[in-house]
Amino acid sequence: AQYTIAVVVGSLRKDSFNKKLAGALEKLFPADFGFTHVRIDDLPLYNQDDDGSPAAQVTRLKGEIAAAQGVLFVTPEYNRSIPGVLKNAIDHASRPYGQSAWNGKPAGVIGASVGPIGTAMAQQHLRNMLAYLNMPALGQPEAFIHNKEGLYDAAGNIGEASLKFLQGWVDAYVAWVKKHA
Ligand code: FNR
Repeated sequence: AQYTIAVVVGSLRKDSFNKKLAGALEKLFPADFGFTHVRIDDLPLYNQDDDGSPAAQVTRLKGEIAAAQGVLFVTPEYNRSIPGVLKNAIDHASRPYGQSAWNGKPAGVIGASVGPIGTAMAQQHLRNMLAYLNMPALGQPEAFIHNKEGLYDAAGNIGEASLKFLQGWVDAYVAWVKKHA
């Protein structure tokens, strides 16, 4: 693929709605886009003492982000913010100071929730981090996904009711990545 997107899912849950959403969204990208599914469940808890001798999982994470042309965050909202596991991954790849793997990578922010707010608060917290990390984040369209009946069709693809909107979202992110790549 000409463009590789690092997909970071903020839930470790086996049947995660956000993991499912990420998979369905990937199918809406054009053929010149490929994906790296970034693993964050085996990262140690971030400890600044380890900056000089990072764990292999941290080196892997940073390498995957560095090699990508964009980063797609698909995350749940936990207690009106992002899950700790996602913050841990963001902190890891941002260090040591001056050697952040996130720097300049065009970001997409999306998430699904069991509630109607659709991760809006978590996305705002994440956007604050992305601004600091110098990651240009797609501003519009915003996508706050309520995980409810009809979001997917029987095959697990985005269902008819949301397809036009989410295809538009993907198209905008694709153009955003190409603009910043
Ligand atoms: C939640 N959930 C939740 N939902 C929401 O809309 N706003 C919130 O602040 C929270 N807070 C929250 C905290 C914790 C610790 C858990 C476990 C859950 C519910 C959440 O939307 C639901 O569990 C989703 O299924 C999580 O996404 P995944 O794991 O399905 O991708």
